[in-house]
Amino acid sequence: MIYAQNGKFLLNGKGFSYAMFIDGQGFLQKLHFGGQIIPSDLDFLICGIGKIQEPPFDNPNRESYLDGMPAECPFFGRIDTCEPMITAVRSDGAVVSRFIYSSHKIYDGVPNVKGMPCARGGGQTLAITLKDNFSPIEVTLNYTVWDDLNVVVKNCEIFNGGGDSVFLTRAFSFCCDFTDERFDVMRLWGDWGKERSPEISPLSHGITRLQSTRGVSSHQINPFLALIKPDCDENVGECYGFQLVYSGSFVLSAELGNKGQTRVIGGINDLNFRWKLDSGERFFTPQAIICYSNEGLGGMSRAYADYIRAQIVRPKWVNARRPVLVNNWEATYFDFNNERLFPIADEAARLGIDTFVLDDGWFGKRDGAASGLGDWYVNTSKLKGGLKPLIDRCKQNGLKFGLWFEPEMVSRDSDLFRAHPDWIISKSGYEPALQRNQLVLDFSRAEVVDYIFNSVSDVIKNNDISYVKWDMNRYLSEFYSPALPADRQGELAHRYILGVYRLADMLTNAFPDVFFEGCASGGGRFDTGMLYYFPQIWTSDDTDGYERAKIQWGTSLCYPLSAMSCHVSACPNHQTERVVPLGTRGNIASLGATGYELDLTKLSNEEKAQVAEQITEYKKIDDLVLRGDLYRLSSPFDSPIFCMAVVSKDKTLAYVVGERALTLPRDVNRIIRIYGLDDGKMYRVRELNLTASGGALKTAGLPVPKTGDFGSWTWHIEQITTTGK
Ligand code: DGJ
Repeated sequence: MIYAQNGKFLLNGKGFSYAMFIDGQGFLQKLHFGGQIIPSDLDFLICGIGKIQEPPFDNPNRESYLDGMPAECPFFGRIDTCEPMITAVRSDGAVVSRFIYSSHKIYDGVPNVKGMPCARGGGQTLAITLKDNFSPIEVTLNYTVWDDLNVVVKNCEIFNGGGDSVFLTRAFSFCCDFTDERFDVMRLWGDWGKERSPEISPLSHGITRLQSTRGVSSHQINPFLALIKPDCDENVGECYGFQLVYSGSFVLSAELGNKGQTRVIGGINDLNFRWKLDSGERFFTPQAIICYSNEGLGGMSRAYADYIRAQIVRPKWVNARRPVLVNNWEATYFDFNNERLFPIADEAARLGIDTFVLDDGWFGKRDGAASGLGDWYVNTSKLKGGLKPLIDRCKQNGLKFGLWFEPEMVSRDSDLFRAHPDWIISKSGYEPALQRNQLVLDFSRAEVVDYIFNSVSDVIKNNDISYVKWDMNRYLSEFYSPALPADRQGELAHRYILGVYRLADMLTNAFPDVFFEGCASGGGRFDTGMLYYFPQIWTSDDTDGYERAKIQWGTSLCYPLSAMSCHVSACPNHQTERVVPLGTRGNIASLGATGYELDLTKLSNEEKAQVAEQITEYKKIDDLVLRGDLYRLSSPFDSPIFCMAVVSKDKTLAYVVGERALTLPRDVNRIIRIYGLDDGKMYRVRELNLTASGGALKTAGLPVPKTGDFGSWTWHIEQITTTGK
């Protein structure tokens, strides 16, 4: 619900309010972001406590004090010397701006963010237009809220109303200032095989800048940042989350100023960004999903999960049952033929798997990582008769068929590269840096995207394919496109990601019944930008049952379990060489869209029976896992125990998975408190054959079972009566 009157704005979503006002000089400033308030409180904020602020809100010369004022669109070159949101270089070289309120409108629905993933609908939007006193640039700040979601979504549009082109050297999506609070800052850092580890540090003076400069959102830092009050934990306390709906190079920065003020700001990375905005053109920035929680980090995660399911994931897939699949990558790597694959498919069907996915190596001259990318036609010397015999075999077994592509890449040793050596991102005269022996196609060029669309489409059209895994195994480098003029080279990284979005949009629209999974060398592009097209993403190449629990824990901070593709793989694990019981691997993989990534034919009969049982059990709780509310109960980063519960929205069911790392001597009488249930209702814990109230399960908890190293357990909890009295 949005309220606007006399230069005051109040946006109320589920459980929070965001308030702003226009001061006497026309500056748009933030009044409040936190627990819910009502419209009449705006006068209290402005005329009440606003009078005793320094400077008072009615001071006619507040601009002199702008350094420290909570600005909604901070600009460069005046009194506010903290991070600006927008910098635009004009034809005379001037950059200074002074953005002043011009107009606003309120409408039902969401803004269109041209060419980029964005909120899908519903809600109400406030669009406030500010004009630059010193140039013909206008900025429209969009704010969307929904009554049933506790996030505010922000972005901005920059319009060049002048006769000359301007160069945007920074075009961030949002700014969110806090006047007097002390925070810790959380980020999700990592690397290949260890994505999204939460790290919290005190926000100290100066700038904490989280960024990717790699052209993709990256394994290293996720496009997410949280500000956390010192007393905030998983279940209680206040925190704020900031997440970009963007898959390219980004920045999220938190700045603690000298007056105790905190500014969070972010969007497309401004390093090497220079966008030429011609007269009459409009530039759209990616959306930021901003969340306030007074139920600790858990509340923030649930708010993000609800939002992503409601507004990001394609509606067709959001509540659809996910395929339980077997993927041949770790079973065969590049070394396969029909004789090797058929038995895996046969075994998959016997064990209850739904879909067989053929990974890398089926196309072109792809016998290893050095050749074939870009040649999206079947390697018939490997797969005699093309894909048909394998697909037929799957069908005879009642299995669906999925296929791997890496659409954005090309190998030097490929027909595509030989035909179009200029289609790569590179600068002639510079030896392009190779990663995994491959080069990046220049997706800023429409003809390259169109060519890949046609060649990938041909494969999907001509074969019975129900699932596509879209991989991306290297970062961008050189950042130069022979197709762009010199004064537009700074647009390449953003244009590249716009090309990726265009291809994803075209393919998912052309094949609406095909299920797409995202992947980037594991979880190197796990963000809401990609989730807009692909309902789930391969979380990490690290499937070790212990490390994976940590990766899924970190990922769950701002993404739903339904977004995580989680597989059981062979032991010793191919990444860590650790041996973890099959039961634990299955339990951890059940906390997401599950599958198998191993040679099923090599399992013993006992293991096969265990896998069949895992799949049967998974199919009883998959709906809960994919749609329920997540409660993180014990952190593997802070203790030897990992434990998570998924609770149905109506609080009648819960599924809990726990895992112990190394057993410790005399580590007895540990308990896990079960959050998320209804205190006054009675529940039965299946595995323990115990009944207790939700209140008792929360306050007294359940005892951690004895397990060996890397052992695990599950608790299935079900409501049995409506009252505990
Ligand atoms: C990286 C992915 O994360 C793996 O699952 C696999 O698809 C390989 N690429 C194939 O090259």
